[in-house]
Amino acid sequence: MSIQEEVNKRKTFAIISHPDAGKTTLTEKLLLYGNLIRSAGTVKGKKSGKYATSDWMEIEKQRGISVTSSVMNFPYKGYQVNILDTPGHEDFSEDTYRTLTAVDSVVMIIDATKGIEAQTLKLFKVCRMRGIPIFTFINKLDREGKEPLELLEEIEEVLDIETYPMNWPVGMGKRFLGIFDRHEKQFVQYNGNEEESYIPYEELKQPDHTELVTQATYEAAEEELTLLDEAGDQFSLDAVLSGKQTPVFFGSALAPFGVETFFNTFISMAPAPTPRKTTGGVIQPGNPDFSGFVFKIQANMNPAHRDRVAFLRVCSGKFERGMSVTLARTNKTIKLAQSQQIVASDRDTVDEAYAGDIIGIYDPNAYQIGDTLIAGKDRYEYDELPQFPPELFKKVAAKNVMKAKQFKKGIDQLVQEGAIQLFRDKRTESYIIGAVGELQYEVFQYRMKNEYNVDVVFETIGERIPRWLKQEQVNESLFDERNMLVRDREGNFLVLFKNEFSLNWFKDKNPNIDLIDLFEIN
Ligand code: G4P
Repeated sequence: MSIQEEVNKRKTFAIISHPDAGKTTLTEKLLLYGNLIRSAGTVKGKKSGKYATSDWMEIEKQRGISVTSSVMNFPYKGYQVNILDTPGHEDFSEDTYRTLTAVDSVVMIIDATKGIEAQTLKLFKVCRMRGIPIFTFINKLDREGKEPLELLEEIEEVLDIETYPMNWPVGMGKRFLGIFDRHEKQFVQYNGNEEESYIPYEELKQPDHTELVTQATYEAAEEELTLLDEAGDQFSLDAVLSGKQTPVFFGSALAPFGVETFFNTFISMAPAPTPRKTTGGVIQPGNPDFSGFVFKIQANMNPAHRDRVAFLRVCSGKFERGMSVTLARTNKTIKLAQSQQIVASDRDTVDEAYAGDIIGIYDPNAYQIGDTLIAGKDRYEYDELPQFPPELFKKVAAKNVMKAKQFKKGIDQLVQEGAIQLFRDKRTESYIIGAVGELQYEVFQYRMKNEYNVDVVFETIGERIPRWLKQEQVNESLFDERNMLVRDREGNFLVLFKNEFSLNWFKDKNPNIDLIDLFEIN
């Protein structure tokens, strides 16, 4: 099979959702369809106390969560599926954002009883800004939730994206009868935990189904469907692939109901790997020369070995175990002898991989986030990974001043790895760590202790709004403890505003100073 044919089979995506929306349940069903697992309940049992072996640290065991995103990989209906798992909410880290740079589409799960929730909104917004195609699964239809039209309106307004319902639910909770499958033109009947049954539209008129179609819930949904057909947006695959329209599927991950249909439709529509920008022009995924970039580095996956694994998104060509590649940043040659694919619980050795695949490579402390690896003669680097603005800030110091040297070494290493963002207070030069989620501090503290033997102490600064300044507009006298002036690791100045009010007040008083929001420019 040619490289291009292999590439066309790849479907690489992330599933994102607010905690408890049903990501684990849905993922598990997909793994069942892919024959990767044989029974539900094996991926993660946060409440039952069963842990997947992908949990790599004590913290994970204690909290029953997956700190770092893992990758699941399996063949399905002629495609090669790569699912990147992402932690959410307070377990969020910049890794979560960076994962989005390594996928070609995302599945967004929304709990029908809750709608879009604040924390996950940021992830969806990043997808919107980057033009990543979003497929929506509205979950828990077996419960009473928000009205479907209300949910669509919410998605459209909050995310500024067109919606196209691929199916339309008939009732919900106890009154849930099934869905109209607009794609296949059939009614899919909900039979509780039993298998769903399919009735083509034209057969619905037959006497067998009179009982169903004369119910008030059915009639109401049919009316809404007619309205959607006549006045709703038209389906456009182009709009979906450019991230302007999201196909919406209703169902229940738990039943499961509508999950298989969703998966089949999603897999057929989701984009295969697309060309990516580099400093040397656009690189086609079918290009015979191997290339890829590191989007995540994970330390201590196995505490017994103290190893680091760099996660690489293959962007072109074919990866073969043992091949020699060039690290574009240093121009050094590295032999990729130890490569792994991280499947939910096991680490399997991979011998070959193609554009779209994610591989874990052994990291002898050589890689940085964003690094490009290439085989062949051409030299180029993939676009820098966007830096995401932290929202939480804490001052950090070594508990024991005698440990200053290890402290500095540990911090430098973890910054380089992208595990934390470091800032220095302009006045006091104290170290400030910025994070997008509280968990990053726990991980930081744990790793400083375990890898560098340093106990660290934090002093909370709290939630702040960071805004970058232009070098020529920095005026120290304008800032204080409320609105702190700090430098990032590149030496750029930014202000940590106490709150929205302080930010607006500052803007009013200093209309000539430009305040740059990283979220806007990423
Ligand atoms: P997450 O990974 O997004 O955090 O969510 P997860 O799948 O763990 O699901 C959160 C809870 O919601 C679980 O119940 C799960 O059984 C339930 N759930 C998921 N999908 C559906 C659905 O389609 N319908 C209904 N009614 N419930 C659903 P739990 O009681 O919190 O946990 P557990 O004890 O069942 O593990």
